[in-house]
Amino acid sequence: MSILRRMLSLIVSLLQWLFPTNLVVSQTELSILPPVHNISEGAKRGLRVVHLTDFHFDYQHNPPKITSTLLDDIVKTNNSLNPDFVFLTGDFVDRTASASEELIERWLSKLKSKYGTYAVLGNHDYKDGKSGRDLIVSNLEKHNITVLNSEYRIVEVGDPPVKIEISGIGDPTCKFRGFDDFRVGDTFSSKDSEIPRILLSHQPDAYWKMKDYKYHLQLSGHVHGGQIVLPWRTPVLYYVDLIRRWAPKQFRWLFKLPLDATSDWRRTEGLHRVPNYGEETYLYLNRGVGTHYPFRWNCPAELALIQLVPK
Ligand SMILES: [Fe+2]
Repeated sequence: MSILRRMLSLIVSLLQWLFPTNLVVSQTELSILPPVHNISEGAKRGLRVVHLTDFHFDYQHNPPKITSTLLDDIVKTNNSLNPDFVFLTGDFVDRTASASEELIERWLSKLKSKYGTYAVLGNHDYKDGKSGRDLIVSNLEKHNITVLNSEYRIVEVGDPPVKIEISGIGDPTCKFRGFDDFRVGDTFSSKDSEIPRILLSHQPDAYWKMKDYKYHLQLSGHVHGGQIVLPWRTPVLYYVDLIRRWAPKQFRWLFKLPLDATSDWRRTEGLHRVPNYGEETYLYLNRGVGTHYPFRWNCPAELALIQLVPK
């Protein structure tokens, strides 16, 4: 058994060598702010937001689903960008909640920003039961990372001050594990909004449940950009999903996971428009930094730098 495990580990290491996981900084500009002044030290044109997601840090896997080299690079890159906010959208651990202590203490607590770090939990953060979920939340809060479990904060930025609302919701699948962190009605201060609103939600498909509440940008992860992406930027899972749709009913269960991660495998990274409050809003889908199956191909780890500028 241990020989088999070593062989598998060797094959995975070889795949990782063939398909390296380097960090790519993506840049996006969105005009969703009212006119403001002196909002950012680093960029005169607006608020600088760093979005990171899907760390999948764990002790149990060899090779690991995220390396300490990549985590060092993430902290160094974030701090060199002088962001105003850091937003983290879940899957801090793969399964073992106690691993969050090292991830947060050694790396996430070192992410610098002017107005703080805000986080929501992903589906993997609920896998270690109630005590596991609570441990991840307390480890984040111990290091001044604000966890938004169907909550919001109104923050003033710039000079003179301008208000923005940061809302966060837990993963919708948490209810199957007995948690109540996905409560749409508690996530926003009201249905309509006079001020810019940013929603943090691990799952991109959550926008269907939130479309009666006006917000201006949703930051999500969860689908890891598809992880194995063909040269024409289509994830392999898009074709697997097509096969599932055409397969006879009795065989569809074979394709169940990880296909259920999204309803649309054509949309796995970058900026999209989705229905919201009778109009449309922005959904940014980050490829994430960790992996689920243990390698990426043509789908590098992502640190998203989003510049929010005046309309
Ligand atoms: Fe994930």
